[in-house]
Amino acid sequence: MIEASQKDHVLFLTINRPEVLNALNKEVMHRLQESLIQAESDESVKVIVITGKGKAFVAGADINEFLSLKDAEEGREYSLLGQNVFSSISKLAKPVICAINGYALGGGLELALACDIRIASENAKLGLPEIKLGLFPGYGGAQRLPRLVGKGMGLYMMLSGEMFSAQEAEKWGLIEQIVPQGELLDFVNDFAQKISKFPLGALTALKSSVNNGLEMHIDDALHADAKRIGELMVSDEAQERALQFVSKRT
Ligand code: COA
Repeated sequence: MIEASQKDHVLFLTINRPEVLNALNKEVMHRLQESLIQAESDESVKVIVITGKGKAFVAGADINEFLSLKDAEEGREYSLLGQNVFSSISKLAKPVICAINGYALGGGLELALACDIRIASENAKLGLPEIKLGLFPGYGGAQRLPRLVGKGMGLYMMLSGEMFSAQEAEKWGLIEQIVPQGELLDFVNDFAQKISKFPLGALTALKSSVNNGLEMHIDDALHADAKRIGELMVSDEAQERALQFVSKRT
């Protein structure tokens, strides 16, 4: 259900249910959670890429599972499972890149929103169609999307329930890069490899600074940054890199 493959310090997690366009059922959620916990503690992993097998990234939560829900409490727990797994992506210390290889709908787009960077193939289609089922995005998307693209554009996407092109999504700041179809994984791998050459301590401090800082008063965020930078400046890796820079010039 989740295929894991590692290239140097980059771990690829591929959601593998192509027969249902990688729809997220409870089992996929649990497996994804396990893979993330493992990736966080594995010292050989510095950057994580999440993608989907086949023509879709993820076409949403598995709609078949909605039919078996008994009551509102079970529905709440269903939502909490998705929220917890996706929050663990944004709270993961290591950077997580989403490679959107096709449809990113409903829970699929919510998953992409929890990642740090989104890179899509030019054929990708993105949307939050929950409203068409009489629902709204319940895995964190209703909170994360407006924070990323603004309240108006977030509501425009969620109220319409429409699918949008990668080009539109890039214009709104929902994705960072569009890549020709067929080149996506190579492009994302090159990008992730480049990042993975930087010291892990700096990568995790930067992610934490940005993600936590956005939720804080700027003065408190700056204060926290000074502490993080102070620790990094005296770290062996930063000292070594500074020394290398200086010695090349003398
Ligand atoms: N949950 C469960 N199964 C899903 C699914 C989902 N979210 N999305 C797609 N599938 C299944 C389809 O039922 C179909 O299975 P079948 O072959 O047994 O009939 C298979 O995946 C292929 O999908 P299909 O609809 O035939 O592909 P398509 O290329 O014609 O259309 C989509 C693609 C993405 C437009 C369409 O599948 C779709 O609208 N999916 C639902 C998206 C959605 O509402 N997600 C939010 C859920 S809250």
